Amino acid sequence: MTALRRVVEHVVGRLKREPGYRMAGDWSDAQLAIVLWHRGRQIVRGVPLRLRARGVRGTVFRGRRVVVEHARQLAAGPGLILEDGAFVGALSRHGIALGRNVTIARHATLTCTGVLASLGTGIVVGDRVAIGAGAFVGGQGGVRIGDDVIMGPGVRIFSENHAFEDVDRPIRAQGEHRAPTIIHDDCWIGAGATILAGVTVGAGCVVAAGAVLTRSVPPYSIVAGVPARVVRSRLTVVPPAVIPANAGIQRHADVGVAGTSR
Ligand SMILES: CC(C)(COP(=O)(O)OP(=O)(O)OC[C@H]1O[C@@H](n2cnc3c(N)ncnc32)[C@H](O)[C@@H]1OP(=O)(O)O)[C@@H](O)C(=O)NCCC(=O)NCCS
Repeated sequence: MTALRRVVEHVVGRLKREPGYRMAGDWSDAQLAIVLWHRGRQIVRGVPLRLRARGVRGTVFRGRRVVVEHARQLAAGPGLILEDGAFVGALSRHGIALGRNVTIARHATLTCTGVLASLGTGIVVGDRVAIGAGAFVGGQGGVRIGDDVIMGPGVRIFSENHAFEDVDRPIRAQGEHRAPTIIHDDCWIGAGATILAGVTVGAGCVVAAGAVLTRSVPPYSIVAGVPARVVRSRLTVVPPAVIPANAGIQRHADVGVAGTSR
């Protein structure tokens, strides 16, 4: 292992508060140097945001074309990463509060207020959360995301619906129904999933790619489909398959691996 790699592992481990942090795979020094250069430029770009947003602590990694509106209503723990094109609109009653080591990937949007007529509630995000590329998180009615939640690209999380009871008036003029949306700790939200207003996703859930959650789901569920249904629970104990003692040898023999015999 090169000295550069040891330094990177040490620094990342400290930033992530993961002593003994190790990088997998073979990294050349040239690759590491490019990543460090890129991250270094992001740190420099993050400095003006630190000055504008008093509630943002520690190092901020800020990509290109990142927009943060109403930065005084943004709070964040150390290690915030805002990748290229991310948009954070904190205007709302409670603002946006992000925990430590939160990543907001490329072109993701966090917004709390859609129309001036109706100030939104806000967004709270826990520690070590990754909001995927192109995500949309709308905190008009309040969104709360726990710790260790990870998301694929294109996830959409809403906390309001338009009212449409009156057929004699345009829907846009009928106001909204708001309800907080909650995602508890340690969930994995698959690519393109949509979570609607008022839904609570229990801890430890897996949401399949493309699922549309219209109802709350219990902890440790695997949910899929449109509308989403629980397809399995992570708590279900699957009995191990009965494997003959010589199964490995037979498998190798079947494909003609040298040195094995029946
Ligand atoms: C949900 C997922 C993790 C698979 O979980 P699993 O427990 O191994 O589920 P299985 O593959 O056994 O499928 C269970 C059932 O759900 C269905 N299912 C799985 N994924 C589905 C999806 N995305 N949409 C609709 N149905 C799905 C399967 O067809 C199966 O149905 P069946 O029992 O009628 O045959 C995976 O399908 C998925 O969606 N991964 C997300 C990938 C992603 O977004 N990656 C981005 C990188 S972060």
